[in-house]
Formats: sequence, C-alpha cells, structure tokens
Amino acid sequence: MTTAKQANTDSNAIAAVDIDLGERSYKIHIGENISGRNVVDYLPFSMQGRSAFVLTDENVSNPHAMALFAGVKAAGARDAQLLAMPAGEKTKSYEFLERTHAWLLDHKMDRGSILFAVGGGVIGDLGGFAAATAMRGIDFVQVPTTLLAQVDSSVGGKTGINTPQGKNLVGAFYQPKTVIADIGTLQTLPRRELLAGYAEVVKYGLINDEEFFIWLEKSHEDVLSLKRDAVAKAVETSCRKKAEIVAADEREQGQRALLNLGHTFGHALEAAAQYDGRLLHGEAVAIGMVMAFKLSARMGLCDEADAARVETHLKTVGLPVSANMIFPPIETSAETLWDLMQGDKKAVGGKLKFILCRGIGKSFITGDVKKEDVISILEESLNG
Ligand code: NAD
Ligand code: GLY
Repeated sequence: MTTAKQANTDSNAIAAVDIDLGERSYKIHIGENISGRNVVDYLPFSMQGRSAFVLTDENVSNPHAMALFAGVKAAGARDAQLLAMPAGEKTKSYEFLERTHAWLLDHKMDRGSILFAVGGGVIGDLGGFAAATAMRGIDFVQVPTTLLAQVDSSVGGKTGINTPQGKNLVGAFYQPKTVIADIGTLQTLPRRELLAGYAEVVKYGLINDEEFFIWLEKSHEDVLSLKRDAVAKAVETSCRKKAEIVAADEREQGQRALLNLGHTFGHALEAAAQYDGRLLHGEAVAIGMVMAFKLSARMGLCDEADAARVETHLKTVGLPVSANMIFPPIETSAETLWDLMQGDKKAVGGKLKFILCRGIGKSFITGDVKKEDVISILEESLNG
C-alpha cells in the first residue's frame, strides 16, 4: 500500500544515479524538495541514536541547512549541531578545517556521527575532508546547493582544502554515503553562481557528448531560468557522465583527468586572481575550456570552427571567455600563468598533462604540448 508520505516523496524525486564503486557505492538523488526536512526520506540509514553535524555557510544556513537540521532532529538524531562558516573560497583552508575539527570534537562526535555538508563546493570539499580525517573517518552526506556542486563537486569523492601553494593540494578521496541534489535549492542561488555552475555542465558535453552540447545550445535559457525539466535533465545527464568516469577511475590514474578540461588553465587564473571573489571557479573553467579548444585548434587537432562554437556558446549565456574579461583585471603575465600551471596536481614527474580536443565531445589527455603554443594562447587570452 502506498502511504501519503511515500506518494509525496515519489513526486519530489526525479532520478537516482548510481555511483558504482563496490563497497563504496552510493546513490545521487535528484529531485525537488528532497532536502530540508524531507532529507531523511533519502538517507540510506536511520538517524536513530546517531549524532548529526550540519556544516554549512552563512548564505545557505537559512533556510536550507536549518530545515535539514530540523529534519534530522525530528527523525531521532541523538544530538544535532549546526555550524555556518563564512561563505567563499577562503573557507577551504587549514584555518577552517581546524575550526571544523574543533567543532566536531568539542561536541563529542563519535565514530557513529554523520556530517552533512549543506552548501556549494567549498562546504562540500571542506566538510568531506573533515569527515575523512576526524577520528580517521566518519560517514558524510553531500547536500549540494549550487549548480556547480550538484553537477560536479559533490559527486566522486574528491575532498580537500587550498594551501598557499595552490588549489586543492591537500585532501583525500573520500566518498559520501549519498548525495541529495535538490534542484529547488537553486531558486535562491545568485545568477552569477548559477552561470558558473553551468560552465561545468557544458564541460560534460565537450568531454564526450556532442549531442548534450547541442541540447544545451538549444535549451540554455530553460536551464538558466530554472525550468524544472530542463534543470533536472542538465543535472541528471552531468551526474551520469561523471558517475561513469569516476566508476572507471576513482583515484584519477587515467581517464578521470578528462573531468579537468579547462581546469589547468582555470586554476592558474584563479591563483592569479587570489581567490578574492573576482573570478569564480566555474568562470575560470569557462575561460580555461576556451583556451583548451584554442590550443587544440592551434595544434591542428580540431577545427577553428569548434573553438569558435564553444566560445560563442559560453559568451551567449554570459560567461567570461578570456582572461581580459576578469574585473578588476588580474596583474599577471603568460609566463607567470605558465609557472602556476606547473604546480597543478596533474603534473607528474615534472610533465604537465593537458586535456585537449579533437572536436566537440572528443576530448583526450596528452603531455605532448609545446610551451610556446601555450604561452601564445595565454597571451591572447590576457590581451583579448
Ligand atoms: P561555493 O561553495 O563558494 O558557493 C558559491 C556561493 O553560493 C557562495 O557564496 C555560497 O554561500 C552561495 N550559495 C550556495 N548555495 C546557495 C543557495 N542555494 N542559495 C544562495 N546562495 C548559495 O562555490 P561552488 O561554485 O559551489 O564550488 C566551488 C568550489 O568547488 C571550488 O573550491 C572548487 O575547487 C570546488 N570543486 C570541487 C570539485 C570536486 O570534485 N570536489 C569539483 C569542482 C569544483
Ligand atoms: N572535478 C574533477 C573531478 O572530480 O575529478
């Protein structure tokens, strides 16, 4: 017999994507109104007798994290705590990791405690790493509230913080117990953040799915105006693509690096912009993907027309497509950006790996790139 509660739950749920990783397998639940007080309907365990730690940031706390906090308490959590960190990339640091550990330990966490990371990629990465390291690992649940986090950062188990040497250089592969991607939470997301997440959606089309890119060219207005079916399709397709790649290469020994399309360029730009808010991660990825396609065209790997099509789409939706569109301008040079790129995690044995493209949906990994070609692409991007 279907109860009223189940019927309500079913209409909120849109899709469930499996991440197949043996004993670390989990589901990504995609739906509307499936987080907040309803979150317990989607957990793969009971809250009875367990303590809940809800980590969030100051923009997400009210209403999203507070509603979830009330939900887990009502579901029988032995104890529940909520901590709202300052919003922004600077929170992904040793300072705030230490603060998170202190919060967990001061409030008597134990090995049965569960950490809920409710927020964007910053809270997900920080919360996941805190969960991986506190008492050598407690369960955690990702509740992503930005488009970027719903299509990318909450999925696949990369957790970590930034250090003065660069982005994401300290961290762990640590999978959540489940991901609850509630597209309803995107209603409160500022437009600029929505666009930044959209860049990562486009990335999946560019990696290996030209049909998806064509659909985005046609449907971007529906996605970005948050039409339910269009957002759900964008999130579900992105999660399925990421799930497939992560299941095949969880610890990035090979093909997972494809997910870094545009990121080596983008991370260097983010470092040059000092993580001060003038360049969002997704914006850096948009500029980086344009550079990856231009470099591919320069090397004769793909048509100039493919690079132009990627640039046109990103520009049409309102994303920056070159480094000279960052405002206030970054004070850097092509040589400095090249040096920053050498510190990227994708560099192995002193050799940097690039994600290049033989066309839209035909990305591949290579180390065979000449410095002078990269420098000329960087100079063009800086000078417009
Ligand atoms: P973010 O976490 O800083 O969130 C962006 C902004 O939106 C913040 O100000 C936040 O407070 C606000 N916000 C979040 N949800 C909201 C909502 N529903 N309503 C209103 N405001 C809301 O940034 P992000 O873009 O989500 O994530 C970027 C981070 O993710 C970067 O640190 C990046 O390195 C990381 N990342 C990690 C992975 C991974 O695999 N782990 C992948 C991609 C990116
Ligand atoms: N965002 C890159 C990855 O998850 O591998």
